[in-house]
Amino acid sequence: MRTPCKRSLLLVAVLLPPFALASPEEDLAAFRAFYESRFPDIELADHADGAYALDEAKRAQWLEMEDFPPYEFAVDEGEALFEMPFADGESYASCFQNEGQGIKHLYPLFDEVAGEVVTLELALNRCREAHGEAPLDYEGEEIAALMAYMAYTSRGQTYDIKVPEAGLGAYEAGKQFFYERRGQLNFACSSCHLQSGGGMLRAEILSASVGHATHWPTYRFKWERVGTLHDRFIECNEQVGAQGLAPQSASYRNLEYFLTYMNNGMVLNGPASRK
Ligand code: HEC
Repeated sequence: MRTPCKRSLLLVAVLLPPFALASPEEDLAAFRAFYESRFPDIELADHADGAYALDEAKRAQWLEMEDFPPYEFAVDEGEALFEMPFADGESYASCFQNEGQGIKHLYPLFDEVAGEVVTLELALNRCREAHGEAPLDYEGEEIAALMAYMAYTSRGQTYDIKVPEAGLGAYEAGKQFFYERRGQLNFACSSCHLQSGGGMLRAEILSASVGHATHWPTYRFKWERVGTLHDRFIECNEQVGAQGLAPQSASYRNLEYFLTYMNNGMVLNGPASRK
């Protein structure tokens, strides 16, 4: 059993920049303990719904919206794209285990041969290139639709991202990015989503970072389209006056690796909708 003293040490540890060397398992325990203590009435699993886990009125509105899910069209389009054969007669299914069905929760993964984090978007483009097709634009509609379909077939799967010894550097880089201050506002991801999680920023409630990677891609009314997790990273970087990075840059893939590891034990519930 965890002693109260050990528990408060965990809570302090999670707020500190990541200089102290902790294992991914210790980070995860501290992360979860932090949000459990900040939101004692909210089940950890419910943070998969982001800000809608934190406000009943907004949740009710959102559930109504989900009666006619705005991402449904993208799921259908993604299925058609997924099944369309490449010029060489093969298709996406040939590149993935279980023919690409119900596998999204396995990403991102650390590819020990290539020595880098591979997200599902990257794997889709590598698949295309291996079959002589041009890669898709990471900010385009097609990749978002493919991701929406692949998330849909993976609903209900539980995250269990692994960090092998060789992947520790990438994990640490992602964690560093999460805690690093940037932009004119000098805010880190953690400033808003950890320290101020549950607080308000203008009219928005700041969601918890635990659950931040469970539900992508997401239809956002503000974007009027389905977008990827890296589209959201860009927006969150830019709103503090920092430069957004290229989607699928190594820094964003490492950040996704860290954030998704922090979702371990949670259930994939994408695609989703957000305001
Ligand atoms: C100035 C405050 C601020 C900072 C700093 C910030 N965000 Fe956000 N972020 C927001 C707001 C506001 C929203 C929309 C409301 C919400 O869902 O929290 C949001 C939403 C998100 C979402 C979508 C949540 C969902 O349920 O779909 C993710 C993921 C996210 N941020 C990740 C990050 C990451 C990673 C960083 C660091 C690179 C970051 N944010 C930095 C304010 C911030």
